[in-house]
Amino acid sequence: MKTVLITGASSGIGKEMAYVYAENKYNLILVARRKENLEAIKSDIEQKHKLDVQIFDVDLSKTNSAELLYNKVSEQKLKVDVLINNAGFGINGKFKDIDMEWEESMLILNMITLTKLTKLFVKDMLKTGSGNIINIASTASFQAVPNFATYAATKAYVLHFSEAIAYELKNDNITVTAICPGATKSEFAEVAEVDQKLFSKAPSSRELAEFTFSAMKKGKVTSIHGLMNNLLVLSARTTPRKIVTAVAANVMK
Ligand SMILES: NC(=O)c1ccc[n+]([C@@H]2O[C@H](COP(=O)([O-])OP(=O)(O)OC[C@H]3O[C@@H](n4cnc5c(N)ncnc54)[C@H](OP(=O)(O)O)[C@@H]3O)[C@@H](O)[C@H]2O)c1
Repeated sequence: MKTVLITGASSGIGKEMAYVYAENKYNLILVARRKENLEAIKSDIEQKHKLDVQIFDVDLSKTNSAELLYNKVSEQKLKVDVLINNAGFGINGKFKDIDMEWEESMLILNMITLTKLTKLFVKDMLKTGSGNIINIASTASFQAVPNFATYAATKAYVLHFSEAIAYELKNDNITVTAICPGATKSEFAEVAEVDQKLFSKAPSSRELAEFTFSAMKKGKVTSIHGLMNNLLVLSARTTPRKIVTAVAANVMK
């Protein structure tokens, strides 16, 4: 039986991915800060499926939290076949006004921890000769987003990093997939303090979780969710960057 490690599994897309992978007979390693949420998910899944669910409550926005998590997983002699770097959050607001410490914790979580976990687990995958890495990027990865400046920049990093290492690893039987959700129903909007109206017609986290599983199975490198999001990303490529930035600013106003 294969094992998937999902960061940010206590709510939203990560929580739904736990259910989707469980339904597809994967053992689970679930990581987030809210231990009570993880415990509830573990007990629910264990009642429904015969599989092993391990939980680790780790704050992944701390420097060296990736090493800490990797060591905990190694101590338990758990082999990770699929790594899903999903934990992340956004901060809405003008760059000049955002608290620097809060922003730094986002930069660490969205980029540094994601990179370090990838480096630590990919080395094990290379030894065993297979693996899948999924990094949750965003449709915000494709253009600058005023009032979401640093968040969108972290997601541009996730996309470019994932595409580059997918290429490096293409002959090693290891897939790397960048998933790009648009607005999706989860706790994201509340945490990021984004207008909930933007999310009124958004797809569910469950839909994104199923989309992610299918993209991994197909070995996709970049997967943008939804026809409209695909069209928007396509049109951004042929539109002058200044205009694209102005449109994004208007959406985030
Ligand atoms: N929803 C959207 O519209 C949307 C669109 C594009 C991309 N995304 C991306 O999708 C991913 C999942 O977000 P979501 O929409 O499912 O939002 P969510 O419901 O807020 O879930 C975020 C998850 O990340 C975890 N997390 C946050 N800070 C953490 C920390 N310091 N250490 C460990 N875990 C932490 C949270 O758990 P704890 O609070 O328990 O730690 C939670 O499980 C994120 O990377 C987000 O950027 C979301």
